[in-house]
Amino acid sequence: MKKSIAAVIGLSAVLCLVIFSVGCVGNADQNGVTAGDETVISQYIADYIPQVETVQLATSSASGVPNVATMSTIMTDGNRIIIGNGYMDKTLKNLQENPRAAVLVQNTDEGFSLQFKGTTEIKTDTEEHILMKELVEEKFGDSEFLKNVVVITVTEVYNSMLGENAGQRIAWPHSSFFRIIIRLAVCIADSGQNPGL
Ligand SMILES: Cc1cc2nc3c(=O)[nH]c(=O)nc-3n(C[C@H](O)[C@H](O)[C@H](O)COP(=O)(O)O)c2cc1C
Repeated sequence: MKKSIAAVIGLSAVLCLVIFSVGCVGNADQNGVTAGDETVISQYIADYIPQVETVQLATSSASGVPNVATMSTIMTDGNRIIIGNGYMDKTLKNLQENPRAAVLVQNTDEGFSLQFKGTTEIKTDTEEHILMKELVEEKFGDSEFLKNVVVITVTEVYNSMLGENAGQRIAWPHSSFFRIIIRLAVCIADSGQNPGL
């Protein structure tokens, strides 16, 4: 009897947790990345990319031939890294046939080296392209060479430093269960900050 009461209580608790969590997770975006994940990835982007003058953009052809090129026209927007295309050759061809990229962001004097990996889109005459033109015009006094922009939606961040954590993934879209737990924590933290809601 005691066992069945405990089972009913346990089951009800799990059910409540699931119902509450599903309500919280409802605002996951169309890629299934929750605000919690995006926040972490966006934070890495916002914290580290402004500290570098250039990044290394790695791409690969459909058949797996790798390529890497230095890029200096860089903007960020949440979990997106946006790079201006003025001179991309193999990079652009690769992205047209295989829309994935890795970006190495490194300043060893400041003690960091990070890899950002994600999916890419090439955008012409969009808001991002116009904004990049304004930025480049301001920086170099000319933006005519800017054909379009590569928008990288970052899905994973890796530690690229020396030492025991070298190569480890430090931010990524978590499994559904993990996502629910993270989202739950974010919901609880948010409700604590907004007692009126
Ligand atoms: C310091 C530096 C900054 C660069 N910045 C950019 C950039 O922001 N955009 C771009 O299209 N090419 C830039 N380039 C040129 C690329 O590194 C590269 O030459 C071009 O993409 C062609 O190489 P690929 O065939 O590997 O794409 C830059 C080169 C250097 C040396």
